[in-house]
Amino acid sequence: MKEKRYYIAPGRINIIGEHTDYNDGYVLPAAINRFTQIGILEIDGTKVRVNSKKYGTAEFDVSNIEKTNDWTDYIKGIFWVLKNEKNISFPGLEIEIKSNIPEGAGLSSSAALEVSVITALDDYLELALTEDEKIKYARKAENDFVGVQCGIMDQFIAVRGKKEHAIFLDTKTLKYEYVPVKTGNYSLIVFNSNVDHKLSGGEYNKRRQEAHDALKELGKDSYRDVKLTEILMNRSSMSEIGFKRAMHVISENERVLEAVDMLNHSNFENLGRILIQSHESLAMDYEVSCEEIDFIVNTLRYKDGVTGCRMIGAGFGGSVLAICEKEKLEMIKNGLSKAYKDEFDIELDSYEIEIEGGARRTQEQVL
Ligand code: GLA
Repeated sequence: MKEKRYYIAPGRINIIGEHTDYNDGYVLPAAINRFTQIGILEIDGTKVRVNSKKYGTAEFDVSNIEKTNDWTDYIKGIFWVLKNEKNISFPGLEIEIKSNIPEGAGLSSSAALEVSVITALDDYLELALTEDEKIKYARKAENDFVGVQCGIMDQFIAVRGKKEHAIFLDTKTLKYEYVPVKTGNYSLIVFNSNVDHKLSGGEYNKRRQEAHDALKELGKDSYRDVKLTEILMNRSSMSEIGFKRAMHVISENERVLEAVDMLNHSNFENLGRILIQSHESLAMDYEVSCEEIDFIVNTLRYKDGVTGCRMIGAGFGGSVLAICEKEKLEMIKNGLSKAYKDEFDIELDSYEIEIEGGARRTQEQVL
């Protein structure tokens, strides 16, 4: 039998391009210095035993995989997809999981778990999956087994992330390019609100449906065939929800293109302004923000040393990504934490972000 091996997959920030990845749009995510780590070992028998530092132990039989509506579904989902799509039969396995990606924080802890498991299975069992397959199957596990109709962004960046680079991805064609992120005197910082009002993807799936319905109202097959002026011209014949959802998708795509240009010129002042516009669109038109997140954004945006900020991820809680001048960071953090605690009686967490590489094998444990 083989010796135990270790693999990691990163969480992500999304610089901009929110709720566009299931609307044929553009996104600009980057992998971060927070990981899920998998230890994998072949064992006797036919069962898979999973051991999570946080959640304890569970066991399942690959010949009969059943959804249990808990953390194990992300792991079972990967086995389920590989069994169905690639007809793979598995030996008995022990999988040990550790993670320092906060859950419900909009940093894509679920994709990191899916991608770390598929990366581990691929290498340990010599399945020879391509990067595209890993992305596709990890997403399929979340869509068809877990039941969240997520887009492709999170699995894509967890597999293909690159140190000190963001990925500019066109989710319609799946063409992508790496964009260097040279922060210089600025820091990327994530403020975790420590609230999560997501309700198991219900609101997320609803937004997805509303955006799809809005496209039908416009008589189009893809958001890529829609121009901002067309939405404005059709306003009176559209439902209010349809108009707002479509406005967000189309304006957000334009902002991603601008943001790529700003990043290429390391213009973090203007990038910050674009983040603020993105937040307003997400809050007012897509309606995926919440009181706590709006408070963080509205407090931060007027602080000396902050060029801009916005909610990241699916929304309804989670985190705010801010661009701050390095030397003012401590002052900004302290001021915001105190204001947030006074307002909601909740501790705010913050993480300074380093942009890291994608999923890979590690020689030893990193967590
Ligand atoms: C979640 C989903 C992604 C994406 C974002 C919103 O993170 O998993 O596919 O839709 O929300 O941009």
